[in-house]
Amino acid sequence: MSTALITGASSGIGEDIARQLAARGLNLILVARRKELLDKLADELAASHGITATTLACDLSDRQSVGTLFERVDACLAEHNDILTILVNNAGTGFWKPFAEQDLAGLQRDIDLNITALTTLSHAFVQRAHKHGQRSYLMNVASLAGILPTPGYAVYSATKGYVRFFSEILDYELRGSAISVTAACPGVVLTPFLDQAGQNVKKQTGIMTSPEVAKMCVNAMYAGKVVYVPGWLNKIAIYTNLLPRRLRGWLLERSMLVSIEARPDASR
Ligand SMILES: NC(=O)c1ccc[n+]([C@@H]2O[C@H](COP(=O)([O-])OP(=O)(O)OC[C@H]3O[C@@H](n4cnc5c(N)ncnc54)[C@H](OP(=O)(O)O)[C@@H]3O)[C@@H](O)[C@H]2O)c1
Repeated sequence: MSTALITGASSGIGEDIARQLAARGLNLILVARRKELLDKLADELAASHGITATTLACDLSDRQSVGTLFERVDACLAEHNDILTILVNNAGTGFWKPFAEQDLAGLQRDIDLNITALTTLSHAFVQRAHKHGQRSYLMNVASLAGILPTPGYAVYSATKGYVRFFSEILDYELRGSAISVTAACPGVVLTPFLDQAGQNVKKQTGIMTSPEVAKMCVNAMYAGKVVYVPGWLNKIAIYTNLLPRRLRGWLLERSMLVSIEARPDASR
């Protein structure tokens, strides 16, 4: 049997990726901080698909917890005599506000989660995948904001740019091996992310749903796509990169404001 590890599986895109992979018969290791939500999902998926689903509570913005996570993963795999063939680095956070007005500690946590944890877990995964030699997939959930420098998201956008570059380079370095790497780059998706980022949805224009994005990203991963942008509107948006920088910034800001507004009471 094969196991897939999904971070940030307690809600949104991670939860829907877990549903997709369970339906394909993968055993699951689900990671996030809210264990009660993970346990509920694990029980449901184990019952409906006859798979093994294990949950590991972990704060991935804490370097020490991330450093020891794979010891727990290895123990769980050994218990089920299983190997890890899929890692989905999906957990991620960001806050939408001009950089100068942001809380620095919050931004540091975003960097630790979106970059440090993702890099550490990718390293552990690739080592193990090289060792067992089975066909393996690494999916890193980046963002359209990792392709388009998005005003209000200076640090978030930059962390997702890291994820995109990292994935692209890693896929190249691993060519000829049994491991492929995909950077999934969704645009705006209707999940609790928007609320934690300090945003209200005004209009659902151009906003995708989590189940559709998860399905498209899992298909892209299995197809070996290196950088994948779900949705035709998001694909078209990439062409704004051809515009002069200030004009691109203005357009991206305006287009976000069509569907999203800042929540006045938002803080962290
Ligand atoms: N929604 C969008 O518009 C959008 C667009 C592009 C890309 N993305 C990316 O998609 C990914 C998933 O986000 P989502 O939209 O599905 O949002 P979400 O529903 O808020 O999911 C975020 C997940 O990350 C987990 N998480 C957050 N902080 C964590 C921490 N310190 N340690 C461990 N787990 C943590 C959360 O679980 P716990 O709170 O239980 O820990 C949750 O399961 C993120 O990387 C996000 O950047 C989202």
